[in-house]
Amino acid sequence: RYAPLNASDPAVASLITQIPQRVIVLNATSTSPIFAAGQELFKACQGVFNRTVDIVYAVDNCSSVFTANSTPAKTIVIGTVTAFNHFCSNSSNTINTSLLVPDGYLWQLPASASSPTLVLGQNEPGTLYGTFAYLAELAQGNNPIRTASNITTATDYKTHISNPVAPVRWVNQWDNLDGSIERGYGGHSLFFSGGRVVSDLHRAAAYARLLASVGINAVVVNNVNADAALVHTPANIEGLGRIADAFRPYGVRVGVSLNFAAPQSVGGLKTYDPLDAGVISFWDSVTAQLYSRIPDLAGFLVKGDSEGQPGPKKYNRSLAQGANLFAKALRKYSPADRPGVLMYRAFVYDQLQESNWKADRANAAVSYFAPLDGQFDDNVVVQVKYGPIDFQVREPASPLFGHLQKTNAAIELQVTQEYLGQQCHLVYLPPLWRTVLDFDMEAGGTPSPVKDIITGTRFQRTLGGSAGVVNAGTSDTWLGSHLAQANLYAYGRMAWDPTGANETDPASPRSIIESWAKLTFGRDPAVVNTVTDLAMAAWPAYENYTGNLGMQTLTDILYTHFGPNPASQDGNGWGQWTRADGHGVGMDRTVSNGTGFAGQYVGKDVAAKFESLATTPRDLLLWFHHVPYTQLLPGENTTVIQHIYDAHYAGAETAASFVTRWAALNGSGLVDPDRYASIANQLAFQAGHAIVWRDAICTFFADLSKIPDQHGRVGRH
Ligand code: GCU
Repeated sequence: RYAPLNASDPAVASLITQIPQRVIVLNATSTSPIFAAGQELFKACQGVFNRTVDIVYAVDNCSSVFTANSTPAKTIVIGTVTAFNHFCSNSSNTINTSLLVPDGYLWQLPASASSPTLVLGQNEPGTLYGTFAYLAELAQGNNPIRTASNITTATDYKTHISNPVAPVRWVNQWDNLDGSIERGYGGHSLFFSGGRVVSDLHRAAAYARLLASVGINAVVVNNVNADAALVHTPANIEGLGRIADAFRPYGVRVGVSLNFAAPQSVGGLKTYDPLDAGVISFWDSVTAQLYSRIPDLAGFLVKGDSEGQPGPKKYNRSLAQGANLFAKALRKYSPADRPGVLMYRAFVYDQLQESNWKADRANAAVSYFAPLDGQFDDNVVVQVKYGPIDFQVREPASPLFGHLQKTNAAIELQVTQEYLGQQCHLVYLPPLWRTVLDFDMEAGGTPSPVKDIITGTRFQRTLGGSAGVVNAGTSDTWLGSHLAQANLYAYGRMAWDPTGANETDPASPRSIIESWAKLTFGRDPAVVNTVTDLAMAAWPAYENYTGNLGMQTLTDILYTHFGPNPASQDGNGWGQWTRADGHGVGMDRTVSNGTGFAGQYVGKDVAAKFESLATTPRDLLLWFHHVPYTQLLPGENTTVIQHIYDAHYAGAETAASFVTRWAALNGSGLVDPDRYASIANQLAFQAGHAIVWRDAICTFFADLSKIPDQHGRVGRH
């Protein structure tokens, strides 16, 4: 936002003395992310510090800045490292290009006033990411030099280096061509309306800016349940080209979801068999047309053989054969040094499965994909939802991550809060994401946390990363509520750097929300602490008042995915079963007696831990075990049924506390009236809805189990 900082704050006052007066932008054309970086510097200095900076664009010689008699102080030089070394270096200031990977950046911050500040990227987007990160420090009132530790090249500089851990830092939009967004809670599509690409793409460009500010490098613009027409008409391909043109100045590339059956449904062929010559040439032609209009197309995303979507199974072809069809087309038409990427979703399951004791939707991904490890082309990335079911409030990490040892993998996270309150509830997701990123698969008895698998380090893969389902729309808040934006901000930060297991790490959920709160509402501790405390308490509270002990979210499965409907979990083909009956609850996923899911973990100790009730973490107890309601929680004196009651009451109480905590900011002047009121309304709704949840779930289980609450709270009064 570049909101003004209070100049009388001593930290801010000292920063004002350091902010640049002159910006030198190396070698940028007007559509380059470096040009955008210059504009951001200008806007930020104006907005945050009320200072106007001089910007010099397209400089192709800046060595004079480094000569003794120049006035380099308060000059900032931005550009790529290569351009810097070419245009600006003298014998002492050449930058070692091997410090950075693609999209990475460094800052060189002068320790004395006699040198300019450098913000340099490995490539053009990297320069923009480095500029945004630098400005984010200033806009929080931080001196960027605090993060710079290592001293390199020249003695009077401190250098801060930041490289993304993975090349795939994508977002997915589930936008339909009619302008609706599947599971979108922030208005209409930014891209589509009435079957075509909208003519005014200003908001799309603003979205690209938002994404670039947190290091995102590509957007898949249409729904995974893809409309085949999108890539079939010249007008739509031109429309996609215009979206790519709007994104390009921010270094964000476009990707497209494809419909497997398009050769038949819109191409007039009799088949969509991935090995059929006509089908191959259909996709070649689509890919060629797309690359001729969008030379930097990021790639494709494909959902096949799932929830009624067409896929290769119809022709008895493997999922790898299906994926490689597109990967080969991408190879043929994309630049050799940057092949288009085929994201193939691991979310493959049969939604019409018969419910029996041994059946388990959670088993599907490993049973389909593990035997195919090593059969996917190099430019395929298997995109795996974080858990084996579907974005539930708590799931163990998908065991598939441990099996993809010769296959590129990315984690799919959901920023849009489909099962998690749909932006009507504050649920800050990073603490949930951390449980998955830090989940250790212990492959081969070696530490194998998911974060090291998706970055490629554990199994030496060159591609990988993260895909976040965002579903931003035309709402003023992008996602449908002010606080929900923290999840998008955090998604970008964590896709760049998924470390942060300790609270004090800069990439931890707590540090990220603190930064977001400062950037959004300013530095005053009253507002920063309030937002941080609410956010950090929100996911545990939501878990408590929806579905605790690993039962899953207990929301309405059949239609809305919103609000309580515990009875809808079982007795249908969707497979999000809890097996609640008069005696007990939970899915038996053991090998010895249940669905065998626990045995899908490649780490023997991991599988053994979940096989036994005594060693299964409490939060996942009912995920892995079916137990009587009277079962005592391991090591505790509380029964499962009593824990269900207690958790739901505790969760609703926490939600109620959000209302009073936020109200303490009323009239403080720290939050503008519109956002104050909007958030107050949201939290009031959440507190009320948490009571609805609490009572619905507690009553359901009291009715079913006939076991009363020890504290007499539950029952039909
Ligand atoms: C969920 C969601 C669907 C979506 C699907 C997917 O089931 O409810 O709307 O299409 O996930 O991720 O493909």
